[in-house]
Amino acid sequence: MLDLDNVVTTYGSIEALKGITLSVPEGGIVSLIGANGAGKSTTLMTVSGVQTPVGGEIRFRGELISGLKPHEIAARGIAHVPEGRRIFPRLSVREHLEMGAFLRSASSDDWERVFTLFPVLKERLGQPGGTLSGGEQQMLAIGRALMARPALILLDEPSLGLAPILVSKIFRMIREINREGLAVLLVEQNAKAALSLSSRAYVLETGRIVASGPSADLLNDPAVQEAYLGVKRRGGAAA
Ligand SMILES: Nc1ncnc2c1ncn2[C@@H]1O[C@H](COP(=O)(O)OP(=O)(O)O)[C@@H](O)[C@H]1O
Ligand SMILES: [Mg+2]
Repeated sequence: MLDLDNVVTTYGSIEALKGITLSVPEGGIVSLIGANGAGKSTTLMTVSGVQTPVGGEIRFRGELISGLKPHEIAARGIAHVPEGRRIFPRLSVREHLEMGAFLRSASSDDWERVFTLFPVLKERLGQPGGTLSGGEQQMLAIGRALMARPALILLDEPSLGLAPILVSKIFRMIREINREGLAVLLVEQNAKAALSLSSRAYVLETGRIVASGPSADLLNDPAVQEAYLGVKRRGGAAA
């Protein structure tokens, strides 16, 4: 569905992506894990057109999309939930959801779908975004993206800064959204949760993919465990 082939993205003289090749299949959940500064957000921004790659190609359902404007990419069915959620403090929940549907007129089905996934948003429709909790703001950011009725959703660190109980709730929601047929490209520093949810994963280190495969294999890979899952190697200092 989505194919990145040797994608290079720069910020001035900094090469943030040094040739990224990855794929997301129709209906799949793929996770992209890696330390702070590895290039995870840049990868998503390059897919959604916020950054333009200087090398390589990005295809969506076979069509070359690298070089298109963000709204053109969104219109093809890719929604991006950016890191940090980008909720407007003074705009109401309703206004955020209406904004998500700007590319098309939302039907009552779209509203119902979001309210079924996130009942709390229905209760808070008139409330300013700034008064929501962190977890509710994340739900609103995802709900806003769903209003565009995308085929692929790019999620940048949805669990960041949330209490553990909310993290598992958000991950359950992602699974639910995927069951309805949406493909998901999930960026996370919470590698364990991401690998448990996804079927395939890629590990990013300073702009390069250093490991990839079925998520279950990566969960059991000693190098991945040590670097990203906080597991000490046998014979190490663990008591
Ligand atoms: N706007 C920017 N200008 C310059 N460098 C940037 C900018 N955004 C990110 N970078 C650099 O690009 C690299 C990748 O960043 P990023 O994609 O945000 O990583 P991650 O999301 O994995 O933490 C880092 O070295 C970061 O410092
Ligand atoms: Mg990031």
